[in-house]
Amino acid sequence: MGSWTLDDIPWERFDRSKVDPEILRIVKAASLVEQNGGDYSVYLCNVFADDADFQAVARRWGAEEIQHGQALGRWAMMADPEFDHGAASARFTAGFRVPLDAAQSVRGSRAGELVARCIVETGTSSYYTALAEATSEPVLKAICQHIAADELRHYKLFYTHLRRYLAADRIGVWRRLKVALGRIVESEDDELAYAYYAANEKDGPYDRRRFVRAYARRAYAFYRRHHVERGMAMILKAVGLKPNGRLNPVLSRLAWRFMRHRIARLERAAA
Ligand SMILES: [Fe+2]
Ligand SMILES: [Fe+2]
Repeated sequence: MGSWTLDDIPWERFDRSKVDPEILRIVKAASLVEQNGGDYSVYLCNVFADDADFQAVARRWGAEEIQHGQALGRWAMMADPEFDHGAASARFTAGFRVPLDAAQSVRGSRAGELVARCIVETGTSSYYTALAEATSEPVLKAICQHIAADELRHYKLFYTHLRRYLAADRIGVWRRLKVALGRIVESEDDELAYAYYAANEKDGPYDRRRFVRAYARRAYAFYRRHHVERGMAMILKAVGLKPNGRLNPVLSRLAWRFMRHRIARLERAAA
């Protein structure tokens, strides 16, 4: 297992007066998505069928992601006693499933798969860092700090294996960039939106556009400029470009402007 367990979280320091209802909504959604780590590790073991070392790494990684879900779920149940993490997880998996039976990576190659994994860990590591800084609730802060450290370690782990696979797969910067961009765009796909729906709506049908927007508005709101710059460095590194070269400030500025613009539009629309 990882470097911490649920027993390391200072649950007794929980302070109800510091629970932000908007943060609570996205924490509930995140608690469901993290649980998918188990399914993703099955998928990774299929894709890397003849690489026992990587399979062992993937299983450990999956268990750590599940633990993230459990920690966030337990916190969400403390903050909202009506929230049932188990029932919401069941609702989520009934409507969204990772493709378990794939024998080959949906990214076209194993190196491509590892680039996509690096992008996901970039997203989660900056997300939980931003959330840890944004919340004043001591238990959630501690949970997010632990998770953010794990996600950064996961990035390094996948990056190490990416370098190994690049020797065989030899996909260049453009191909890696394409995978990375594809994975970034996918973050507005059903997984997060459906988790937001399953965690926060008891009745009513799933409306993809509505829940993509509801999730994005709340999640983007916690990012600060330095999170974007650090995330950009991690993305550039994963695609084979200089993390802190001249491209970083240019792309970070663009990404930052896009995010602010998007939040403003979603706020006006009261998404
Ligand atoms: Fe995670
Ligand atoms: Fe992770």
